[in-house]
Amino acid sequence: MDLHAGRALSSHRISELLHEARSRTLLLVASLSDDDLRRQHSPLMSPIIWDLGHIAHFEEVWLLENIEGEGPGSEGLRGMYDPFRNPRASRVGLDLPGRREAFGYMAETRRAVLGTLEAVDLSSSAPLLRDGFVFRMVLQHEYQHGETILQTLQLKQGEPFAAPRAVGLPALGVVDERMVQVPGGRYEVGSDDRSAAYDNERPRHAIELGAFEIDVTPVTNRAYLEFVDDGGYSREEFWDPVGWAWCREEGLEAPAYWARSPDGGWSTRVMDRVRAVDPSRPVCHVGYWEADAFARWAGKRLPTEQEWEVAALWDPATGSMRSYPWGEAPPTSLVANVDQLAFDTSPVGAHPAGTSALGCTDMIGNVWEWTSSPFVGYPGYQTFPYPEYSEVFFGDEYRVLRGGSWASRSGAVRGTFRNWDYPIRRQIFSGFRCARDT
Ligand code: AVJ
Ligand code: FE
Repeated sequence: MDLHAGRALSSHRISELLHEARSRTLLLVASLSDDDLRRQHSPLMSPIIWDLGHIAHFEEVWLLENIEGEGPGSEGLRGMYDPFRNPRASRVGLDLPGRREAFGYMAETRRAVLGTLEAVDLSSSAPLLRDGFVFRMVLQHEYQHGETILQTLQLKQGEPFAAPRAVGLPALGVVDERMVQVPGGRYEVGSDDRSAAYDNERPRHAIELGAFEIDVTPVTNRAYLEFVDDGGYSREEFWDPVGWAWCREEGLEAPAYWARSPDGGWSTRVMDRVRAVDPSRPVCHVGYWEADAFARWAGKRLPTEQEWEVAALWDPATGSMRSYPWGEAPPTSLVANVDQLAFDTSPVGAHPAGTSALGCTDMIGNVWEWTSSPFVGYPGYQTFPYPEYSEVFFGDEYRVLRGGSWASRSGAVRGTFRNWDYPIRRQIFSGFRCARDT
C-alpha cells in the first residue's frame, strides 16, 4: 500500500495503512501451528511469536509513549522485546506469550493507538510527527518484520508453510544479458525526505563516479549454473580469501536451498514448492562472497551502492534522480515483483514497465542485490530518531543490499533504501548484478 511519502497523513489514512499492514502480518502467520509460531527454526531468526510481540511493542513505544516527544532514546525497547538485550538466538528461552496472548497484545496496542489518533496534532512540527514520519516508521517496521517472518518460513523444516498465494507472476521475461553504459561524472545520491526515508538514507549528497557498465538484469540461474558447472565453488582464484575460507568451512557448492536432483540437475525449494532451478529467474539466496566470486569469474565486479543507485534512478533526460526506476509512483505489480503474495521470484525482465531510464530491469523487487559497499553513514549523517536502527550497525562488517525482494512490501522499498547484512548471510532473498569499469 502506498505510503504517500512527502505528504501529510490524515488520521483516516493512518488507520487504513495500519490496518492493511496488520492484515498482511496476520495473513502470513494464519496457517501456522502453535508449535511453528513458538519454535526457533534457525539460530539466525527469532521465534515468529517474538516478531509478533515485538511489532506490537515497537508500536506501543513509538505511537503511545513517545509520539509527542523526541523519542525514547536507548531505554525505549524494554524487556523481552528489546532486540539488543535478547539476541535472536536466545529468544526461544524467553517467557514468550502464546498465540492468543500475542494476538491479544497486538490488538490491544492497536486499539489504544486508534483511540489516541483523533487527539494527535498531525500538523505538528515536532520532529517525530512532522510529515507523518513516526507513523511511516512504525508501518515500515511492521513491513520489514513481515519479510523477516518469510525468511524464517523459508528456513523452516518439517511441515511446509502453506503459502497463501494471491498474485500470479508473469511467466516470461526478457533475459537480456547485456550491460548498460553509465557515463562518469557528478551525481547526487541519497535522500532529504523526512517523511518516510530512514536516517541512513540522508542526506542527499554529491558523488563523483567513473564511467561504468552494469548488467541489465540480476544474474540469472542460467548464468550462475555456468559458474557452478565451471567449478566456481572449488577454484580459489575467484574468491576473496575470507570468502574462500568460509566456502571451504561450510562445504558450499551451490546457493542455499539448492539440491542435486537424480538426473544430475539442480532443484530448489521456494517456500512450499520444490522445482527444478529455473534458468530465467534470478539466482536467490547467495551470500556476498558467492556474488563476489561469480563476478570475478565473469571478469566483472559488484557495483558500489552509489553505482547501483545511479543505474536505478538517474534520468538523463531531466538530469535528475527519480524516486523509483520508472518515476515517482510507488511499486505495484505492474512495475515490480514486490508485496509478497506471489511467494516467489519472477523471471528477470518480466516487468518491463519498471525499467530504469538507463535501461536496467528488476532494480526494485524480485531479489535484494548485494553491493560492494560497507554499511556506513553518508557524509553529514545525523541519527534520527534512534541509534539502534542504523548507527549501531555502521562499520565494515556489513555489506549494503539494494532494491528489495518479492518478500518486501511496496511501502518498504524505494530507490534510496539501504538494507545490510553480513557477507556470509544467505537466508535473505538475495541475488546480485555485476558491473565493470569502462
Ligand atoms: C534493515 C532489515 C537490517 O531486520 O535488522 C527491524 C530492519 N530494524 N527492526 C533488521 C529492522 C529493526 C533491519 N534491517
Ligand atoms: Fe524490529
